[in-house]
Amino acid sequence: MALYSEKVMDHFLNPRNLGVIEDADAVGEAGNAKCGDIMKMYLKIENGIIVDVKFETFGCASAIASSSMATELIKGKPVEEAEKLTNKAVAEALDGLPEYKMHCSVLAQEAIEEALKNYNNKENNNE
Ligand code: FES
Repeated sequence: MALYSEKVMDHFLNPRNLGVIEDADAVGEAGNAKCGDIMKMYLKIENGIIVDVKFETFGCASAIASSSMATELIKGKPVEEAEKLTNKAVAEALDGLPEYKMHCSVLAQEAIEEALKNYNNKENNNE
């Protein structure tokens, strides 16, 4: 049996939304102290909708595939919906990750959570 699903391989080899948004409305970063991998998410938000999202991941194949899939899952979605994104949903959308690679999908969830937290803080300060 192959270690990684075809979807994981596809998103690893052809990551979607890879890069930086220079004028992002929110940026979030997450890291895993054990493996040293780091993920950064950039969000562009208009009227409560995530109109654009890009990521940079310095990490393993699963982390890159997870970030790529996570960006696809939240692009065009309302902020409230993106806040509910779980690492399980990311892994499921990839047709699964090996059990010991599940923590890689957690990075994607945490980076998005962090970006949205920063966004909400900024919004509250502007009121
Ligand atoms: Fe660290 Fe995958 S091994 S994120």
